[in-house]
Parts: sequence; structure tokens; C-alpha cells
Amino acid sequence: MAEITKTSEWRSLEKHFEKIKNSHMKEMFEDDPNRFENNHILFDDFLFDFSKNRITEETKKLLLSLAKAADLENWRDHLFSGEKINFTENRAALHIALRNRSNRAIELDGKDVMPLVNDELTKIKKVSNEVRNGEWQGYTGKKITSIVNIGIGGSDLGPAMVCKALKPYGLKDISPHFVSNVDAADLSKVLEKCDPETTLFIIASKTFSTQETMTNAFSARDWFLSKAQKDEFVKHHFVAISANTKAVTDFGIHPENIFTLWDWVGGRYSMWSSIGLSIAIYIGMENFEGFLAGAHDADNHFTSSPLEENIPVMMALIGIWYINFFGFNTLAILPYDQCLARLPAYLQQADMESNGKFIGRDNKRVCQQTGPILWGEAGTNGQHAFYQLLHQGTQIVPSDFIMPVHSNYQLEGDKNNHHQILQANFIAQTQSLMMGKSVIDVQDEMRNDIKNNKDLRKLVSHRIFEGNRPSNSIIFNSLTPRALGKLVAMYEHKIFVQGVIWNINSFDQWGVEYGKQIAKLVLPELASNQSTKAFDSSTNNLINYIKNNT
Ligand code: F6P
Repeated sequence: MAEITKTSEWRSLEKHFEKIKNSHMKEMFEDDPNRFENNHILFDDFLFDFSKNRITEETKKLLLSLAKAADLENWRDHLFSGEKINFTENRAALHIALRNRSNRAIELDGKDVMPLVNDELTKIKKVSNEVRNGEWQGYTGKKITSIVNIGIGGSDLGPAMVCKALKPYGLKDISPHFVSNVDAADLSKVLEKCDPETTLFIIASKTFSTQETMTNAFSARDWFLSKAQKDEFVKHHFVAISANTKAVTDFGIHPENIFTLWDWVGGRYSMWSSIGLSIAIYIGMENFEGFLAGAHDADNHFTSSPLEENIPVMMALIGIWYINFFGFNTLAILPYDQCLARLPAYLQQADMESNGKFIGRDNKRVCQQTGPILWGEAGTNGQHAFYQLLHQGTQIVPSDFIMPVHSNYQLEGDKNNHHQILQANFIAQTQSLMMGKSVIDVQDEMRNDIKNNKDLRKLVSHRIFEGNRPSNSIIFNSLTPRALGKLVAMYEHKIFVQGVIWNINSFDQWGVEYGKQIAKLVLPELASNQSTKAFDSSTNNLINYIKNNT
């Protein structure tokens, strides 16, 4: 493929950008009473409204041509047919097989992977049922009441995000806990809440060599054995999910307690696999299957909807429009549902680890920006923190507002309409970001309060809102397992589409390796009695300062 920035499609977008870069969405809405009609997609109970973006019919047409020029439809076929598109690791990216509820054959190296996936699901079902119904007992015969998932990155963020989001579906007498940071504070705080007799540790690590996870796993085992005393009891309290069976066995986990993961499941795409065991235990297998079914719905939507009616495709194209043409380099994820508070952190890994890359598939440096800096916070908390910058800052932050119509929570006899207030805020934010507030409106507003014209002139400019700040609105019926599966899978495909257009490999993560290597060199320096001269002067002095003050 030709360098994407050299294609005629890209050049047409550049020209078009020059034409419309100063157009205001307010006028676009005034000019076209059908703007919403023409700029939203309905998919099951999902409404994706992208009308509050700085796009015209022409922009959409040109962006869709760009997707075609990047051969998106073919790449989508490569993804779904198990081709080894993660070429730097010679691996397929077959997370879609994990949630393939149709059970159609998906071949890798000429072999259907579905029997493997189904066997693993059967095992998840068996163990999750046993833990839930008390058949799985601790070493003193007690029922499990705490599950502790020890993992990091993709082996933590997904299960942690989902268990929080789907708490209303969770079993009341099992508490899920997640330990990821090697900072002892993380594990200690969880262990304080657990009893060795009733705790099940899930060691989740694809490689089973990640320093943070292994350190926490060894400490958890020490904590357990300090009470249980006998190694043979480990069997009742430790299970592992990994592609590295040997390392798991060496750690001392019973072979029956090992769940398999394959190299074709990337860490950040793994919560649909047995990495989701904590989810299945907490919300039950039926709900876990609902979650998978939601993702499968999104997969079908992605593969079968025309590009212009395809939510992940339109999300991706709009993102590209902002990042590559307007130079708006961040993306805010703003869920108006407290249960989705961890969604921004989850999507941060999904997006930034996938598309934070400067080398293209052609092994050359890319000529355009790639993945956005993704961040966010649950509404309305963000409103009282960083929305000032969203409304009046010099940088423009395209934002995704996400909200269910119905909340899973209702306060008894709720006389104060919590959810409606939340909804009103969601709508108000997207509307005011788009519309802005003009000088005249501000003057009219202020005239009643400030009679002195001089004071009025001084203050007006501070209260002006330029508007024209873009957002997507994603509204769905309620936060069910199925809806959550759909939502996350749509973001996965948005990330994929952007990676295709930028011609990068969205499925490796070499960028996280370098720091890990250096940490291994720093550790012995910190441990030795000598002052270090091994690194640059800043690094040496930081190490020596810590040592001198320990
Ligand atoms: O360091 C990044 C990373 O490799 C992620 O991609 C992955 O999700 C995480 O570490 C955990 O890896 P593992 O499951 O092998 O412990």
C-alpha cells in the first residue's frame, strides 16, 4: 500500500480541511434540520450520535474513501479469518474467536480453534459454578468468599473494569479483588480484607513471567502458607491462567487448576478468554456468556454493516479526522455511569498500547500522527475537575460521552431523580460544548446583574464559550453484560480500523519492553552497598539518593 498521506484520498481530505476548518457546528445544525438524522447510527439498543462533530456530508464521503484506499475491508477479513496480522510476533489476533457464539469454524494454520475455545469455556463454567455454589472448598472445608485476581495490564484491567461495571449482577457473598501494582500497598490492602481459609487466588499472566505479577503471586502464596502451613493446600486456593504451563507448574499450581491461553490472544484483548475467570465466578457463567454474546453482536455489526453505517468505522474515521487533520491529539472517554468508572483506564491500554506506534507495517517511520492520548473520568465528577479546559481551554479535546438510559441503581423511594440529573448533565455538556455562548448572549445575561458598563466589558470575555468542541454520544438501554460486551468490542474495532489506516501493527507492544529491561539492570544497583556509576548522572544520582536515604 502506498504511504497513506501520499494517496489522493488523503490529499482530498487536506484540501477539504482547509475549506471547512473554521466552520462552526452551530451553523451546521442551523443549516441542516436533518443533521441528527443524517449523522447517527442505531444498532440494537445502541444509539451512536456523531452529529456534534466538525464534519459535513463531504467529510464523511472523503473519510470513507480513505478507509477504502487503506483496504479496510480486506484487513477486516484478514483479522476475522485468523491470518497472522501481528507480523512482528508472527501471530494471529483471534480474540474474536473467544466470543464466537455462532461457533463457526475459525481456522489457524489450517486447524479450527473453536474446539479449544469451547473446551476452555467448559472449564470456566465448571470452576465458576463450583466456586459459586460452594462445591469448591478451601483447605478447612469452607466456601470461597474472596477471589483475588493477581495480574497486570490486560490480565487485570478488563476483569477489574467488568466486575465493577456489572456489580449488580455479582454474587453478594463473593468479593472480587484485583491486585496489579508491585507496590506492596496494593496486595497488603487486599489481604487485610481476606481470610486464607476462604480466598481463591487467580494468577493471571499470559507469560507467567511479568515481574509485578510474579512478585505479588509469590507474596500471596507466602501469606497463604504462613497460615495453611502445608504446600498441598495450595491446590485449593490457587489457580492460574497462562500460556506458559511449565512456569505455572514450577510455581506449584496443580495441573488441574491451569487455564490455557494461546499466543493468538493479545493481553489487552484477553478478558474474553479464561482471563475472564474472575468475571465468570462473580457474575456467573450465564452472564459471562451474555457478555461474550454482546461482543459477538458487535463483531457481526462490524463485519456486516456498510462502512457508513458501521459504528466502529465511523468512530475511527472521525478520530482520524481530528488527530491527523485538526491536530486534536487526545480523546476523552466520559462515562455517565459510576459503574463504568474504570472504562477510561481499560480503553487507555486498549488504544494506547495498540496504536501508540511510530513504525509502520512497511518498517518505516509513519508520516502522520497515530494513536490518541486517551484519558477520562466518570461524569459528573469530571465536570468539576477538568471540563473547564474542555469548554474554554486552548486545546480541543474530542470526547465520547457514554450513558445508559436506565441505571442499574435506584435509591429506595428516590425522590431526588439521581439518574435524570445525571442524564441532564450529559446532554447539557454535549450541547454546550457544541453551541458555545456568544458575546451577545453573555452581555444579555450579565446586564441584569452588572449595571456598570465598564465592569461589564471587562468581564464579558471570561464568560464567552467558543463552542465548536466535538463529541460523540453513545446511549444504550442499560448496562447489562451484553451491552458492556458490545461497547468494549466496538472500541476494539475502532482501534483496529485506525491501525489499518495508519498502516501500523496494532497487536504488538514492543514499547513496553525497554523499561522492563532497564528495571532489571537498576534492581541490582539498588540492592548493592556500593554507589552506582552504571548510568547517566541523573539516573545514578537518583539511585544513590534512594540508597543513601534508605
Ligand atoms: O507490559 C505490557 C504487557 O505485556 C501487556 O501487554 C499485558 O497485558 C501485560 O503486560 C501483562 O502481561 P502478562 O499477562 O504476560 O503478565
